[in-house]
Amino acid sequence: MTQADLFAGALVPDPIPESLGPVQRVAELRRQLQHHAHRYYVLDAPELPDAVYDRLFAELQSLEADHPELRSADSPTQRVLGTVLDGFTPVRHALPMLSIRTETDTTAAGAEAFDARVRRELGLMAEDPPLEFVAELKFDGLALNLRFEHGVLVQAATRGDGESGEDVTHNIRTIRQIPLRLQGCEAAVLEVRGEVYMRRDDFEALNERQRALIAAGAKGEKTFVNPRNAAAGAVRQLDAGIAAKRPLSFFAYGLGDVQGWAVPPTHSALLDALAAMGLPVCADRVVTRGAAGLVDFHRLMGEKRDALPFDIDGVVYKVNDRVLQEKLGFVSREPRWAVAHKYPAQEQITRLLDIDIQVGRTGKLTPVAKLEPVFVGGTTVSNATLHNEDETRRKDVRVGDSVIVRRAGDVIPEVVGVVLEQRPPEATASEPFDLYKRLGGQCPVCASPIEREEGEVDWRCSGGLSCPAQRKQALLHFASRRMMDIEGLGDKLVDQLVDAGLVNGLPDLYRLSLESLATLERMGEKSAANLIAAIDKSKSTTLGRFLFSLGIRHVGESTAKDLARHFGSIERLMDARLEELLEVSDVGPVVAASLRHFFDQPDQPKTHREVVAQLIEAGVHWPDEVGTASDAPRPLLGKTLVLTGTLPKLSRDEAKALIEAAGGRVSGSVSKKTHYVVAGAEAGSKLDKARELSIPIVDEAGLWALLNTP
Ligand code: IVH
Repeated sequence: MTQADLFAGALVPDPIPESLGPVQRVAELRRQLQHHAHRYYVLDAPELPDAVYDRLFAELQSLEADHPELRSADSPTQRVLGTVLDGFTPVRHALPMLSIRTETDTTAAGAEAFDARVRRELGLMAEDPPLEFVAELKFDGLALNLRFEHGVLVQAATRGDGESGEDVTHNIRTIRQIPLRLQGCEAAVLEVRGEVYMRRDDFEALNERQRALIAAGAKGEKTFVNPRNAAAGAVRQLDAGIAAKRPLSFFAYGLGDVQGWAVPPTHSALLDALAAMGLPVCADRVVTRGAAGLVDFHRLMGEKRDALPFDIDGVVYKVNDRVLQEKLGFVSREPRWAVAHKYPAQEQITRLLDIDIQVGRTGKLTPVAKLEPVFVGGTTVSNATLHNEDETRRKDVRVGDSVIVRRAGDVIPEVVGVVLEQRPPEATASEPFDLYKRLGGQCPVCASPIEREEGEVDWRCSGGLSCPAQRKQALLHFASRRMMDIEGLGDKLVDQLVDAGLVNGLPDLYRLSLESLATLERMGEKSAANLIAAIDKSKSTTLGRFLFSLGIRHVGESTAKDLARHFGSIERLMDARLEELLEVSDVGPVVAASLRHFFDQPDQPKTHREVVAQLIEAGVHWPDEVGTASDAPRPLLGKTLVLTGTLPKLSRDEAKALIEAAGGRVSGSVSKKTHYVVAGAEAGSKLDKARELSIPIVDEAGLWALLNTP
């Protein structure tokens, strides 16, 4: 199937008739490009393959080059004008940009207080019907005023002090979500207010690029502490070319000055109208009555918060009816008809008391910040990761500093930056962090020398399994759920077992007895019996799980599975040469080298081969796997397939087994890396996604054809 087939039908624009002169052609191209940019950037629902869009764009560019008289500021070609300013021009806002009262009580009471206050101010009685509100998200970005005249974007300004801000039109024009011309809006003046922000994935990608620039020796480049900070930096760039490389997004949420437009009677209708004009309006919004609906929204969005693609710091409630809004009016630059209801902050500033260094399973040495305890992201945090020496130096984190700690969702707390303005003199006088010096070149647990390989960011303890810290981590890893799954073997117990000398290596686990366990403190008879039973149960496993549980560097769950499937036996894997390892799908030079290193290097006090032999001797076993190395042809080697819907004959498990036997992999979600989507009856969003990404779609017969291709 080709791209053209997938986008077949009404979706591909009709060719523009040859007979049209340049004036009409330019107008038609701009109309089509604007429509498709809106589908792509705002609605996230493109109708065109990128290549077709690019072709239309190139045609418009060439027409404009041939006919300079047809150029126009609202043409899609005119986003990045290469403007570099000396400074920002102040802009006096036609209507002041207000702020909003914040309800700091993050419980349901915050919403109830707002409802009660508004009712009181409107003179409503208990028996009067509940008020209608709109609940929206409170985006964590920067407020922006977009001024459109006769539908064309003429100015974008920051909030500034609310009375006057700065003209940032040159940068805002580069945001593809913001239309340069509104659809169906002839208003003499329409000022749209909203929030410019950076998505989290865009932020991560930007920091990744910045890190690469810094590593390559670029001067004056830095990374950003959070998406808000990165967005602020991009908006206040003097060079629009640089701003264009810092991906920003926008949500409209209100109005400024309006002339010649009948503003809709409710806030919800206004948001709908702005969306219809082509502006991005966040879909997470509701119209609701009374405090209960607000409380629900606050809770629901609180649960959804970490899954959103952007940061929010709360929700906003607004009285829906504009007549009531006017009646309520303002107090000291804040509308009485709106309130922000916050969530617990995910970032806080606290003091760095010390930097500890932890030893991980593979000997990785991680600097960990010891913090003055601080309530952030819903819990009290007193330790946060500093990742590695490079990161710690780049952020120039020093003991005594005020640091910004972030804890979002399930992510482990991290130090994202230093508040340099608050650096105390002792910290200024101290030297930048140096992990090697700090440890005197020795592992803090076993005193083995530490080492850092060329091109690696991490220092490691060279002690291997003779280092108790690594031993403990290796045991925890081995016992975890997706590996040998030994229920009840958690970090406290592992500490006890290793510290008491009962377990020195993995095989020792299988030699534990009720008597030996009885010597441990706080170990009852019942828990000892449970542990022995759980250890016993773990003996029956699969080769894939077993390989994963050994903790070989760079060998994760799916690689372990691939290796098991390919070699079929542990002996064959342990004896495989580098070239043979490289034949396994998804095994590259790094993984192959790591495997060879693991099985070849004599690791004190035993070799890994011995460990494997002892585990097997202790009773660890798995069902035989055929192993596909060098046998049957593997037509799907290196291919990733996604199954969706119900196939006529094959069950999902059968289809999966066939694909895997043919060397392919089955993934649960469609991405650019998917090679084929196998679709059956009632296929859903995965099929849509495949169409969107132009990924070949096959049915059951098509799957058989793939499987049988020599
Ligand atoms: S309405 C008259 N709605 O929060 C009301 N503001 O102090 C004006 N913000 O910096 C604001 N999300 O940029 C409104 N959905 C939302 C918002 C929002 C974020 C920001 C706004 C301003 C601050 C309000």
